[in-house]
Amino acid sequence: MVKNNIIILGIESSCDDTSASILKNEAILSNVVAGQNIHEQYGGVVPELASRAHQQNILPVIDVAIKKAGIQLEDIDAIAFTNGPGLLGSLLVGTSFAKALSLGLQIPMVTVNHMHGHVLAHFIDDNEKSKPNFPFLCLTVSGGHTQIVLVRDYLDMEVVGTTRDDAAGEAFDKTAKLLGLPYPGGPLIDKYAQLGNPNAFQFTKPNLPDFEYSFSGLKTNVLQFLQKNTSKNKDFIKDNLNDICASLQKTIIDILFDKLILAAQHYNIQEIAIAGGVSANSGLRKRLEEEGIKNQWKTHIPKFEYCTDNAAMIAIAGRYQYLAGNFADQRTTANARLKI
Ligand code: KG4
Ligand code: ZN
Repeated sequence: MVKNNIIILGIESSCDDTSASILKNEAILSNVVAGQNIHEQYGGVVPELASRAHQQNILPVIDVAIKKAGIQLEDIDAIAFTNGPGLLGSLLVGTSFAKALSLGLQIPMVTVNHMHGHVLAHFIDDNEKSKPNFPFLCLTVSGGHTQIVLVRDYLDMEVVGTTRDDAAGEAFDKTAKLLGLPYPGGPLIDKYAQLGNPNAFQFTKPNLPDFEYSFSGLKTNVLQFLQKNTSKNKDFIKDNLNDICASLQKTIIDILFDKLILAAQHYNIQEIAIAGGVSANSGLRKRLEEEGIKNQWKTHIPKFEYCTDNAAMIAIAGRYQYLAGNFADQRTTANARLKI
């Protein structure tokens, strides 16, 4: 028989954020995220440095999450941790920690696919937001993934569209790098785009079948565009930063929505969600609302703090694994290429 109150500790360490969260039923009691500034100077995440930082951060982060939640270690019923996809060294820190804690406390553990976590963040209790009804489509856009996910149930998801090369977050980060902006460039492009004209410059969009994405061509297109213009005016980027960012952001959002609209029509689904780090983008959020009105969709936009990587989403996804009885044992390990 399932207990009335289930307390789950969520642990996330798949990339460059170490995070721990305490979930009681579907409510978040705490969600602590320690980012890693060390990567900024390298223009991208350095895997070895990420693992070392996780190693340093994981204990204090879990400790703070437990204290903030106002519970004791003994109150935790189960541990949910990300076992993939992500950077193997980073994943192994969370995985090893979860396994040791599960053994020490003699409590069960469940593994969570990071991408499931992004999607299921929509089921965290939130008075300001309604939860999606099944089936729904979720555009999951992050630094590593671009997926249109057909979500039939909590644990029944199918990726119906994805990218053949770069992810949407990479499109933001790599083009931001070409503009001389630090990593991660996505939030900065968002900031400057709000002050610029989205129709100032035109960038090319790929022409691919079905629900397939590609963003590597955009990077090349932007590189050539900048080379051409800076050869005529060395201050071109500085003089036009807001307009370049606004035009770039519009192009990425257009590419994402062209396929999302097609998928919604194809699957005849009017319930549409966005998730992942890029769903924090103000232009993308606004566009979903506009398309929702136009296409009569019921739309779901995650709370800001549940867009980028966090353990709250791992805890809620872990809750459904727990309720389904999908427990992991001590032989479990991380899988960098885990699929949905
Ligand atoms: O989900 P996430 O935190 O980590 C991964 O699982 O990859 O996503 C990180 C990505 C980065 O590429 C970052 O630039 C992007 O999300 N991102 C944004 C914004 N905030 C984060 N991209 C555009 N606009 C934003 N406001
Ligand atoms: Zn993520």
